Amino acid sequence: MRTEADPGRLQAQVLAWRAEGLRVGFVPTMGFLHAGHTSLMDLAATRCDRLVVSIFVNPMQFGPGEDLDVYPRDPQGDAAKCAAHGCDLLFTPEAFYPQDFSTRVILGGITDRLCGARRPGHFEGVTTVVARLFGVVQPHVAVFGEKDYQQLAVIRRMVRDLAMPIEILGGELIRDHDGLALSSRNKYLSAANRERALTLHRALYAMRVTEDRNVERLLDVGRDVLDVDRIDYLEIVDTSSLEPLTTMDRPARALVAAFLGKTRLIDNVAL
Ligand code: PAJ
Repeated sequence: MRTEADPGRLQAQVLAWRAEGLRVGFVPTMGFLHAGHTSLMDLAATRCDRLVVSIFVNPMQFGPGEDLDVYPRDPQGDAAKCAAHGCDLLFTPEAFYPQDFSTRVILGGITDRLCGARRPGHFEGVTTVVARLFGVVQPHVAVFGEKDYQQLAVIRRMVRDLAMPIEILGGELIRDHDGLALSSRNKYLSAANRERALTLHRALYAMRVTEDRNVERLLDVGRDVLDVDRIDYLEIVDTSSLEPLTTMDRPARALVAAFLGKTRLIDNVAL
């Protein structure tokens, strides 16, 4: 595995692979990698000849008062995991944006709800960095996790709207042995709050096994199970448009975001 911090040299390598007719896969991350991230690399590796992974903690997608300054980092451990999961080229840019960078990629509609409503500017930061990463990396296929279900939908929409010639694949949400959705942010949890965090997936699965087509009653089932300091949102939405549902008359997904202390966790499940 080669590690490259310079966008130009990284792109030169990818273009050389493309010229040889090789199919290039890409997994963008913010590092502190866990089995959720490596599952995306494993999936990508089955669909490409050369795999690029990026690690960049993107300041633009963090709001004021969020955890940018304390976001966990483990460059050596990350590199070892990438090498063990088929990564050929690890992209670790330091200053990824040119100094006078002045472009923003902003999607309407699909970013207005859920995490978009709760974290103003967040998806603008995500779509802008992913668009620039796609421009630099020039992948044939890119993989995103269903852990960030809305992010995956937003990226699919961006790629379609801007006619980017990139196939987007969704990787299933990977959980810890006790059901907690793996997240770099789990590191912030005290032992007591980690135990309470288990109620996120328990609430979602309680909703999933409840035979009721009434959305309000299903949400009550979930709220009864949640033991958190604050529910940011708990919603049932259409699987592809992410529009809120009032009755369970089409494929639906339940999504939750909740605070335990200062830590904000998200989870989701197909209903
Ligand atoms: P990050 O939170 O590091 O996640 C990188 C990728 O790993 C995302 O596609 C995310 O959905 C996926 N992922 C995280 N936890 C997962 C889990 N438990 N199971 C499956 N997939 C999981 O998401 C970002 O970084 C950034 O927003 C990024 C896309 C890199 C843009 O900066």
